[in-house]
Amino acid sequence: MQIIKEKAALTEVISKLKSKNSSIGFVPTMGALHEGHLSLVRQAATICDVVVVSIFINPTQFDNTTDLDNYPRTLDSDTQKLAELNLNLIIFAPTATELYNNKIESEHFQFDGLEYEMEGKYRNGHFDGVGTVVKKLFEIVEPDKAFFGEKDYQQLQIIKKLVAQHKIPVEVIGCPIYRENNGLARSSRNERLSPKTRLEASFIHETLLKVKDKFGTESANQISQWVEKEFKAHPYFKLEYFEIADSETLKPATNTIASRTFRAFIAVYSENVRLIDNIALNY
Ligand code: PAJ
Repeated sequence: MQIIKEKAALTEVISKLKSKNSSIGFVPTMGALHEGHLSLVRQAATICDVVVVSIFINPTQFDNTTDLDNYPRTLDSDTQKLAELNLNLIIFAPTATELYNNKIESEHFQFDGLEYEMEGKYRNGHFDGVGTVVKKLFEIVEPDKAFFGEKDYQQLQIIKKLVAQHKIPVEVIGCPIYRENNGLARSSRNERLSPKTRLEASFIHETLLKVKDKFGTESANQISQWVEKEFKAHPYFKLEYFEIADSETLKPATNTIASRTFRAFIAVYSENVRLIDNIALNY
């Protein structure tokens, strides 16, 4: 496993690999790696000869400097976790100056409205920051396939749109949500919950499973009202949003046309920790 910090050094390694016809998988991350991230790396390694894992805390996607300052920086333990996988990996861990050339700013994107839905309403400029860094990383890594978690389903759809709009020659592959034993979607934020709340947080996924059961017999509106009622009655969790949306356009489902596929999305607060999750409803 190699650890590379400079763009030029990575470009050189990549062009050597390409000249040998090795296929290149790419898993972009912000570090603080857990089993959710590692599941993406494992999936990438099953279909690609070499997997580049980037570890870069992208300043432009944070709308709040405290969040950015508090983001865990754990390159040593991340490296250790990746080494233990025993796969053909390259870690790319650039500095912000290396990646952004002194101009740490977002490009402005239009993702056909995907950026205004759900997370876009609550995290100002977030998807411009994500688009900017992922586009830069794609240009350097030049992967054949790139792997993103369905945990951040809106991000996954936005990356697919970015690739189509800019004709970037990469296949974007969505990977299933890795969950803890109680169903809670794995996230580095889970560590900040008290043990009791972390256990109780099974409630989020359990609610989504009930939503899936109700879908088809109840309207999106009726289901949303039911979810709001459930969360109002819950002592630990505060609902930020719940939405049933078209899985491709992310537009709220008004009438559920049989030919479309839908997903339910949720964002919840507990103990000042923001948790998100989602589930496929009719596919
Ligand atoms: P980060 O939050 O580190 O996540 C990196 C990748 O891991 C994303 O594709 C995310 O969806 C995936 N992931 C996280 N938890 C997961 C889980 N429980 N199951 C499956 N996949 C999971 O997302 C980002 O970083 C950044 O926005 C990035 C794309 C790297 C751009 O800076």
